[in-house]
Amino acid sequence: MRSTELVVEGECYISGRFERACIGIDGGKIVAIARNLEGERRLDFGSRKVLPAAIDSHVHFREPGMTHKEDFGTGSLAALHGGVSCVLDMPNTVPPTSTARALEEKAEAAASRSLVDFGLFAAVRPGVDIASMAGRAVGFKLYMAGTTGDLLVPSLASVEEELAEVARSGKVLAVHAEDESLRRKEPAESLDDHMRNRTGDCEASAVRKVAKAAEACRLHICHVSSRDSLPLVLGQPRATAEVTPHHILLDRDRPLGTYGKVNPPLRTRADRQALFLAFKEGRFDTMASDHAPHTIDEKKEDFDFAPSGMPGVETMFPVMLQHVRDRHLALATVVKALCERPGEIFGIRKGRIDTGYDADLVVVDFMEGREVRADNLYSKCGWTAYEGMPAVFPKAVIVRGELMMNDGEQEGERHGRDVVASDG
Ligand code: NCD
Ligand code: ZN
Ligand code: ZN
Ligand code: ZN
Repeated sequence: MRSTELVVEGECYISGRFERACIGIDGGKIVAIARNLEGERRLDFGSRKVLPAAIDSHVHFREPGMTHKEDFGTGSLAALHGGVSCVLDMPNTVPPTSTARALEEKAEAAASRSLVDFGLFAAVRPGVDIASMAGRAVGFKLYMAGTTGDLLVPSLASVEEELAEVARSGKVLAVHAEDESLRRKEPAESLDDHMRNRTGDCEASAVRKVAKAAEACRLHICHVSSRDSLPLVLGQPRATAEVTPHHILLDRDRPLGTYGKVNPPLRTRADRQALFLAFKEGRFDTMASDHAPHTIDEKKEDFDFAPSGMPGVETMFPVMLQHVRDRHLALATVVKALCERPGEIFGIRKGRIDTGYDADLVVVDFMEGREVRADNLYSKCGWTAYEGMPAVFPKAVIVRGELMMNDGEQEGERHGRDVVASDG
């Protein structure tokens, strides 16, 4: 029998079911799966479950320029403790990630501080050089409405050339789909007001417009929030769709105040339930956290001035696993949306326990739940909208064959890798 550098043993989630198995790992990749394997080192997790780690394909780690909210060090530590081994970071930083140089600089910062692997989105704006960024970016991002940052593209006509270049690059075009022209700018004091300013129509209209204007692109609609846009989004033959934990679990009736202010908004109970059902039925391609940390001081501003966004990279997988434990969601649905599909869509060889994939694994014990407490989380922002919710946090996390977290303790080194640059 061939011996590998490392063998991970446990109840492994392989091809949709658990089996007692050994995972043989060489050079950070899964090279063999069998009932028995020999290895130079061995991690035996006994009867605990071994799952693929999650890929969070929508995070804002705020570096550079807003590192008082988060940075790659704290963001990736939060990711790690949440069972996320790879994050895709959005371009609305300061400066924005809209030049090859900005991409390069962000990649260097991330590589020096990140505990997990990462990919970087580049922004689509009038006049940006798409071709110069295409080799380095994991995808492109288009903001159709004002939100945190300075990347609003109010008219799709102004980026016609750029969208054609994105199509030629073959990279995904991720879209913040809210129609700026339908956004009302009435004073807002509550989550309900915020919802009225940014209606479901506003989202649906943006989806229609971008589906037309970026017909040739591989469209990915981010954070779908309204039941009105569901038929539209889930019916697009060549587009993929993302949902967030907050839009399926929280609504405007929660007493969250500014902490629940997010774009697109939390909506009605009926919206939330329709989104939950669509997710449960496996109709969304991906779930991503849209981890958008802002400090408590910033969130204490008056409603109109408080920034939009909430953290989520550390709670997404654990809270979803709790729903699996409670039999509200099938594990297969959760693994598909958090691990497998993000890998497929963004071309990352992670998210499955299979040979040829990166050995990114989480170990969980479904018998051991723990409530979400802001005090126990690692994001720099220091708060969570999920306070008190039951969750199943991972016991251990392995990134490319390296034990990075074990029993709540950080173990490995900070050598997160750019999933695009390290290709090939
Ligand atoms: C995000 C942020 O703060 O960067 N905010 C949010 O409300 N979701 C930006 C975004 O994704 O729209
Ligand atoms: Zn957005
Ligand atoms: Zn976002
Ligand atoms: Zn190491």
